[in-house]
Amino acid sequence: MIIQPYSYENLKMFPFVAGFLENNTYLLADVSSGECVVIDPSYGFRDALKKIEDEKWMLKEVWLTHAHFDHTMLAYLANEMDPPVPIAMHPGDEALRVARGVAKNGNPGTHVDCPEPSIHLTDGMTLHVGSYQFIALHTPGHSAGGCCFYCRSAGWLFSGDLVFYESYGRTDLIGSSTEALFRSIHEKVLTLPDETIIFPGHNDFTSVEHERLFYSV
Ligand SMILES: [Fe+2]
Repeated sequence: MIIQPYSYENLKMFPFVAGFLENNTYLLADVSSGECVVIDPSYGFRDALKKIEDEKWMLKEVWLTHAHFDHTMLAYLANEMDPPVPIAMHPGDEALRVARGVAKNGNPGTHVDCPEPSIHLTDGMTLHVGSYQFIALHTPGHSAGGCCFYCRSAGWLFSGDLVFYESYGRTDLIGSSTEALFRSIHEKVLTLPDETIIFPGHNDFTSVEHERLFYSV
């Protein structure tokens, strides 16, 4: 399912919502050059690839907010392309990736093989979608290597499972830390401009202004 696209100048963002956990996969495209990137190749990644093919865009990179299976479900499709599409992840989630994205010890549930990333994210690292600049923010807490992706010019933040609408990510999982999660939220998210739109890994979109009120109570 595709829901309403967002635009800033030539930068377009298409959210794809799919899967039993209702994951958000985000397709970002600079329509002037046709260069695009996908954030979290989850259950909606096939639909995003179809959109890229239909528009004759070029998928440059795949960025992972973190390595839980539901966010990397179809990452293998990027690796099967010719040439393979580079995958970006913070090394703090490498143990989680090798453990096939399983979030809990002894969990017999879903797991998935995610290809080895070739781009190692660091805090403050600059990334590009065509001529638009994004910054990787290392935001541990939900997972050790969790990252958000921030586009200052558009005022967009892709928050993975760190921040949700009036909520936040679980911290009862492998590599989680409640203390780190709230530090990440307060230091990396709530310091952004009020009007910043937050696009989380699941559920509804929100804004820094709205969440600042939520976290102040
Ligand atoms: Fe997660």
